[in-house]
Amino acid sequence: MTPSDYEYLRKLLKERSGLDLSADKQYLVESRLLPLARKSSLPGIPELVQKMRNGANALTGEVVEAMTTNETFFFRDKIPFDHLRETVIPALAQARAARRSLRVWCAASSTGQEPYSIAMCLKEAGILSGWRTEIVATDLSQAVLEKSKSGIFSQFEVQRGLPIQLLVKYFTQNGELWQLNADIRGMVQHRQLNLLQDFSHLGVFDIIFCRNVLIYFDQPTKANIFDRLSRMLEPDGVLALGAAESVVGITGTFKPYPERRGLYRPNVAPAVRGGITPIGLRAVASAAS
Ligand SMILES: C[S@@+](CC[C@H](N)C(=O)[O-])C[C@H]1O[C@@H](n2cnc3c(N)ncnc32)[C@H](O)[C@@H]1O
Repeated sequence: MTPSDYEYLRKLLKERSGLDLSADKQYLVESRLLPLARKSSLPGIPELVQKMRNGANALTGEVVEAMTTNETFFFRDKIPFDHLRETVIPALAQARAARRSLRVWCAASSTGQEPYSIAMCLKEAGILSGWRTEIVATDLSQAVLEKSKSGIFSQFEVQRGLPIQLLVKYFTQNGELWQLNADIRGMVQHRQLNLLQDFSHLGVFDIIFCRNVLIYFDQPTKANIFDRLSRMLEPDGVLALGAAESVVGITGTFKPYPERRGLYRPNVAPAVRGGITPIGLRAVASAAS
């Protein structure tokens, strides 16, 4: 791949998915895109880039998907799910007792282990029976959403993080695979969504999980997404981030949830949360002008 091909890919990936590749990540691009070039009957990445430059839109979409990192597992990092069970769900159950409904957004849901872990937490809480609980799982990649929707996981996948009693309770074994039961699957709705673009149409949530995706973005993109996420949360709502992520030094729109590592609350009154344009829409607007 020539330096010009790499620059083309870097710029395109930043605009399309937010992925902020440093100058020394050529090996990563090569290892992810060479199989795609071969699948498309192209000899290598230069030819793949040439085809993209010539306007092969479907191929460009495949390149963006191939460059996403989809690593995930059930109850990842454990602590946020302990907080959910011990603190967040009981507090929200009390605060929402009159309306008896709870909305959760899992904003980079990958192959489903995270939204289904949340669904099992809500089910296990017991106190929410008879409530309308809605979990919206979104991701940029249609491929991971399709896998998530199937609710089918391999032996390896169910062995990563899922307590055995939940495996036995909520899954049915089918040969080498495990099928998640329909009642847990039915708690999760799936939608394709790019966090760079406007997501205000999803409405307001009580809990947002946005974990292990912002680490791939640059600071201005993170700040923009945090600011827009803050407008999607109820004033007493909770944002969960990944173990390596934080709002500190990036945005003032969230503050740490006291003594609950990885959890944050909105810092700004709902009335003054407004007027933030998504990075993705800015890019589209400036390209059009
Ligand atoms: C490392 S996984 C994290 C999955 C899960 N949240 C977890 O913590 O286990 C990152 C996910 O973010 C998705 N992603 C990457 N860029 C995105 C974007 N711009 N908008 C929405 N999702 C994106 C990827 O497709 C991938 O499934």
